[in-house]
Amino acid sequence: MVKYITKSLDETISLGEKLAQNFKSNVVGLNGELGSGKTAITKGIGNYFGIKNITSPTFVVMKIYKTLKNNSKIKNLVHIDCYRLETYDALLDIGLMDYINDEKNLIIIEWANKISDYLPKQTIYVNFKLANNENERIIEM
Ligand SMILES: Nc1ncnc2c1ncn2[C@@H]1O[C@H](COP(=O)(O)OP(=O)(O)OP(=O)(O)O)[C@@H](O)[C@H]1O
Ligand SMILES: [Mg+2]
Repeated sequence: MVKYITKSLDETISLGEKLAQNFKSNVVGLNGELGSGKTAITKGIGNYFGIKNITSPTFVVMKIYKTLKNNSKIKNLVHIDCYRLETYDALLDIGLMDYINDEKNLIIIEWANKISDYLPKQTIYVNFKLANNENERIIEM
C-alpha cells in the first residue's frame, strides 16, 4: 500500500498524471466519500493520455474517451461512476465485461466497491479520505 497526501485539487490531478504512467492493470477502482477526489484524479489520468475534457459521468454511468497518446497500448479511457447504479445488470448490459477484457481500454471506476464482485482480481484499488484540512486528501493505493 502506498499513501499520498494531496493539499489541493491541482495536486490530486497531478498525482493522477503521475500514477497513469505505470498502472499495472487496466482496471482501476476508486473508492471514497462524496467530494473526496475520485473525479479529480480521473482528470489527471486523462491528462496523461491527452484527454482534456473529462467530467463526472454521474448521470450517464459511463463515458468513453479516445486517448491521444501515440506510444501507449491504451486507446480508450472508459470512465464509470457507480454511485447511482441500482442494478449491476445495467452495466453488464452496456458491455462492461467486454470493455474490461479488451486491454486497449483503461477502465476507471468511481464507487467501485459497489461492483467489486464483477471486477477482475488484478483490479487496482485507490481509496480516498477527507482529512482535517478541507483541501487535504489522503489517497492510498
Ligand atoms: N486535495 C484535493 N484533492 C481533490 N479535490 C480537492 C482537494 N481539495 C479540495 N478539493 C475539492 O474537492 C472536490 C473533489 O471533487 P471530485 O468531484 O473529484 O470528488 P469525487 O470523489 O469524484 O466525488 P463524487 O463521489 O461526488 O463523484 C472538488 O470540489 C475539489 O475542488
Ligand atoms: Mg466523482
